[in-house]
Amino acid sequence: MEKYKNILNIEEISSTNVYLFSLLKEKRLPEISVVSAEFQTAGKGQRGNSWHSERGKNLLFSHVVFPQQLAATEQFILSQIVSLALCKTLQSYGIDACIKWANDIYVGDRKIAGVLIETQLSGDFVSTAVVGIGLNVNQIDFPDFLPNPTSMALCAHKEFDKNEVLQQYLQNFESYFAQLSEREKIHREYTTLLYRYKTPARFADAGGEFEGTIINVEPSGKLVIHHENGNLCSYYFKEVRFVICQYDNMPMC
Ligand code: BTN
Repeated sequence: MEKYKNILNIEEISSTNVYLFSLLKEKRLPEISVVSAEFQTAGKGQRGNSWHSERGKNLLFSHVVFPQQLAATEQFILSQIVSLALCKTLQSYGIDACIKWANDIYVGDRKIAGVLIETQLSGDFVSTAVVGIGLNVNQIDFPDFLPNPTSMALCAHKEFDKNEVLQQYLQNFESYFAQLSEREKIHREYTTLLYRYKTPARFADAGGEFEGTIINVEPSGKLVIHHENGNLCSYYFKEVRFVICQYDNMPMC
């Protein structure tokens, strides 16, 4: 396996995304430069949440890409390829992962990785994207406030070499990034791995809970759900959420 060398390992930082952006302000960095930390004091999650991770146990890293001619309206493709690269990485360790829209990585009904992509635009195009990933690798105990976490160690009943997993992800990401223009293929792979795709499930939107079936994800990233009332509804991120029952007997993996 080719070794990625542009990796800066830090013991403790507020957030690898924030730190990578600050480095980018100071100097030009080569594509797929990586900042990785053992612990974050202010790890950022989606929807303004924070990201929890036990010190030293998991992968917490951010990498930068400079997409060529990627329209801001099409930036969801980045979420798709990052999700696919993570699933492929987990699959290579025998862990059957899927993608919970938009880019959470799940094993069964449990979250194993989260992705936070922050972009800078130049006109109508994405000039810089910082891809932040928290992948639960060797953490076994999780605090109660996390609703449904899991980790590679819980799934496979063994510990993993975090650096090897990181290298594997970077290789997979690079290979998907090279296919960025193959939208149809990426969309197909993404929907194939989509959690609760074409399966009746419970959701909640501003109007409350409902039953519906995911029938597509648009190139913009909007989720298209066939609502139980017969309507087709499409949602941007934050406008709808899955209702995942915490009272079922949910195995850790
Ligand atoms: C989510 O809420 O699911 C996204 C979590 C993303 C967490 C990662 S950890 C490394 C990087 N740095 C951050 O501050 N956040 C991302």
